[in-house]
Amino acid sequence: MTKAYDTYREDVAGRANVEDTPELVAYYEELAEADTAALWTVANKIEPWEPVSSSVPVLWRYADLRDKVLKSLELVSAEKAGRRVIYLNNPGRTDVAAAVGWLYSGLQVMKPGERASAHIHAASALRFIIEGQGAYTIVDGHKMTLGPNDFVLTPNGTWHEHAIAEDGTECIWQDGLDIPLTNALEANFYGVHKDLHQAVGYPVNDSTYRWAAPGMLPAGETWKNGYSPLFKYEWEPAYEALTRHAEASDGSPYDGILMNYVNPATGGHVMQTIGASMQLLRPGERTKAHRHTGSFLYHCAKGQGYSIINGKRFEWKEHDIFCVPSWAWHEHGNLSDSDDACLFCFNDMPVMEKLGFWREEAFGDNGGQQPVLS
Ligand SMILES: [Fe+2]
Ligand SMILES: [Fe+2]
Repeated sequence: MTKAYDTYREDVAGRANVEDTPELVAYYEELAEADTAALWTVANKIEPWEPVSSSVPVLWRYADLRDKVLKSLELVSAEKAGRRVIYLNNPGRTDVAAAVGWLYSGLQVMKPGERASAHIHAASALRFIIEGQGAYTIVDGHKMTLGPNDFVLTPNGTWHEHAIAEDGTECIWQDGLDIPLTNALEANFYGVHKDLHQAVGYPVNDSTYRWAAPGMLPAGETWKNGYSPLFKYEWEPAYEALTRHAEASDGSPYDGILMNYVNPATGGHVMQTIGASMQLLRPGERTKAHRHTGSFLYHCAKGQGYSIINGKRFEWKEHDIFCVPSWAWHEHGNLSDSDDACLFCFNDMPVMEKLGFWREEAFGDNGGQQPVLS
């Protein structure tokens, strides 16, 4: 049976619409032998009318994952694994090990006294702490202690390592990286520290003490790197900022009260390729639906609610993770009438913005909310 070359035909003016004939098929085969092909056979596929994401909306429930993650403690050592992580494998993105789009994510677990080796990579990384006590990270000599719902950067090109103090407990956190993007751009490097560990060169938590004062910057300090000098964004001040914001503003109809984590030196995104935010949905709040470019991975930091993604309803509660693929309709709701709900999110917005690809659209029908299909 001969191969079909006219699968992507569209009967629309301006679009490729060439039917296979024996002469054309022979021509296409001749072109293939010269490592070439006719654009009109694939044009409608490679230039879709609008973004076509191969990522599937997925909800990863923490209650389903926790035991599986802890099981890895018995099966593999941190030394042998390098990093003991169970990663989120989007069914549409298994070929690039992505959780959504070009973003990777996983749940890492360590036990008291464990110390992973220091390493460096071109990919940008972050972690969002889920549970446990005594975890710490060292980034380029800056040691920081980690608590639940803290958000931590390990930016591209920095030496970093994670550990749990001897008197700590088993700790689980979510990792987020742009590994699939870095690999797609064929720009990834990885290195292991020659001494396996790095020295601590500053007072513990110094980056937070120096750079996290609300509305104030350290005089005389300069920062030239493309990522934030503030490596740890603690939960309590983030939550306080959201609740105070909610007292003074109605927020966004699409996101409720949403605040971006920023590089205090520039006011811009925390890293060059990854942005992050925390948002608060007030009791009973339901947002309107919109869609935009970029891939978004959400982590419920507090409360319980639901999101409707391309007409499908996903109910989430604390430490559940879900993704919104590029150009997917989405809206969020808080299931409680008395408590607020908070969603941490990281995304590739900086990439979309810098490359001029950011686009956003409101769901116009049905009062701005999607009909729930499943
Ligand atoms: Fe890393
Ligand atoms: Fe959105």
